[in-house]
Amino acid sequence: MWAGRHVVLGVSGGIACYKSCILARRLTEAGARVDVVLTRAAAEFVRPLTFEALTGRPVLTSLWEPDRALAHVRLADAADLVIVAPATAQLLARAAQGLADDVLTALLLARTGPVLAAPAMNDSMYAQEATGRNVAALAARGWAFVGPEVGPLAEGPSDRPGRMSEPESILAHAARLLRRGSPLAGRTVVVTAGPTREPIDPVRVVTNRSSGKMGYRLAEAAWERGADVVLVSGPVNLAAPVGVRLRSVETTEDLEKAVAEELPQADVLIMAAAPADYRPSSPSDAKHPRTDGALAIPMEPTADILRATIAVRKRGSVIVGFALETGDAIHKARTKLEGKALDLIVVNDALEPGAGFDVDTNRVAILDREGNARVVPLASKREVADTILDAVEARLG
Ligand code: CTP
Repeated sequence: MWAGRHVVLGVSGGIACYKSCILARRLTEAGARVDVVLTRAAAEFVRPLTFEALTGRPVLTSLWEPDRALAHVRLADAADLVIVAPATAQLLARAAQGLADDVLTALLLARTGPVLAAPAMNDSMYAQEATGRNVAALAARGWAFVGPEVGPLAEGPSDRPGRMSEPESILAHAARLLRRGSPLAGRTVVVTAGPTREPIDPVRVVTNRSSGKMGYRLAEAAWERGADVVLVSGPVNLAAPVGVRLRSVETTEDLEKAVAEELPQADVLIMAAAPADYRPSSPSDAKHPRTDGALAIPMEPTADILRATIAVRKRGSVIVGFALETGDAIHKARTKLEGKALDLIVVNDALEPGAGFDVDTNRVAILDREGNARVVPLASKREVADTILDAVEARLG
């Protein structure tokens, strides 16, 4: 997503500047060419040298730098995206007025392409009508905003917005802004992720090794493409991706109910979850005591959720299943694709190194209902997620 993109990171002078260093680093690591532009106040908080080292590029701090006359205008024209983080109350006021009294405001006034601002200031400053007017004026000019959020400020705890959004959140919003117009924009995507847990008694469960990573990366990537994303998740140890609506579930029956509720609105359903196929037939209300000898727990099958959705899918929706197999994966997956009436099935072999549960990479093949198979070489789960979404977008009418 970021490879080859040109980003200007404008930094104005607030204590949140320290987070802009992380943002500059993340963008650079992701492959973007990052030109940092500092106000004088920002350079009091973080020296230009820090940003130079992080981005590997010269930093612009003044309109009067030798050999860089008009650099602000060239950057304003050339950048794919301008991010202003932090955008202080003072910076927002100057930009809203159309002032061009330093290198950053001059660049912003010359800018006609997308701008994303991450305001950061004292909570009372943000609550002021004057600040609200400035934000509204800039929004009317086409600026997008991320945050500010409620959270601790440098001056102490706060229960009102003022704190700058975290770099991960700014990055996700920036990606969504750059990807606007993608075929998933405005569509509703339901992703399921993780294992389910079936009770044996109040303290013991039957579950599986699914980490949820593939589903979470899919939800994140779909949101960045502009979709409204509902992530129905079994118990996992992962942070909810930025922007998605998280529904936490425990058992396969909970998952089935959540999917049934969300499905009528869904343009896309991606079943990346690994629901338990069996559950103890009669979970006990009391903890099983330890006894000598073997213990047999009678199990009964759970519903096949994907199969149950066949009759109630929205017309034209794209349904994606997963198949984790051990041997003869493609053949078994094709049988599942047909049996569950899927548009696409993503198949991986659990025994292959780098694929399957609890790793950050995956090696998959994507099969479609027309009989095509596309092998995706070993890649990060986020890269695999984007390849799957490319295949989904190609099918959306
Ligand atoms: N799935 C489902 N409901 C279940 C179990 C699985 O909807 N109770 C979905 C999974 O989310 C996945 C697809 O079906 O997208 C295939 O899951 P898998 O466990 O491989 O398939 P099963 O149909 O359970 O087949 P088997 O366990 O016999 O291989």
